Amino acid sequence: MIEQLIRHHPVIPVVTIDDLEDALPLAEALVAGGLTALEITLRTPVAIEAIRLLAEEVPGAIVGAGTVLSVSQYEQAKAAGAEFFVAPGATATLLKALAAQPFLPGVSTVSEMLRAQEAGFNIQKFFPAESLGGTAFLRSIASPLNSVKFCATGGIAADNMTDYLQTSNVGSVGGSWMMPKTLVKNGQWSAITELAQQAVNLAIAARPASVEPEKVIG
Ligand code: 3PG
Repeated sequence: MIEQLIRHHPVIPVVTIDDLEDALPLAEALVAGGLTALEITLRTPVAIEAIRLLAEEVPGAIVGAGTVLSVSQYEQAKAAGAEFFVAPGATATLLKALAAQPFLPGVSTVSEMLRAQEAGFNIQKFFPAESLGGTAFLRSIASPLNSVKFCATGGIAADNMTDYLQTSNVGSVGGSWMMPKTLVKNGQWSAITELAQQAVNLAIAARPASVEPEKVIG
């Protein structure tokens, strides 16, 4: 499932909900712009409730949980309806408990990548991408780690996402740039839809040969 997710969703919004009232209009704004796989981070007290709400109320969205730091957080997110799980790092406990789940374990070193691969995860979250060296780092490891692909997140935005998507071992990018906090705070949902649409268009332009537009949106 993670392979399909990454293939059909080259851009995954990393959504942190501070106010539960924002969850629905924000998710709908992103989906309207063509970004339908939503990672809801477990960083706020309302995160689990937001996952439950979006899984029920936004049929066009694939709702996942991000910032999964423990097995109990994973269990709560799954019970709330999360369909995929993302972590900024990965412990042996998480790798084992989520071995059969659609899970993107976070990695930032080659040894972590090898450990996650040994545990069966060939698609991993490269985080925090820009601080770690960005596409230069990823290109350097593409040959030795030739069966691992990454969802890169951390410091990615409209101005550098194309470079990531044109890197051979990058399957997708994630980030929060298409929903700046001020737009969320002011309820400027159509501006967020425009930024989401811009991200979709950049993804299509970055991979004209491999991305089918309807798959990006669907
Ligand atoms: C993540 O958890 O992936 C990051 O917080 C998203 O990164 P960004 O906020 O720099 O886009």
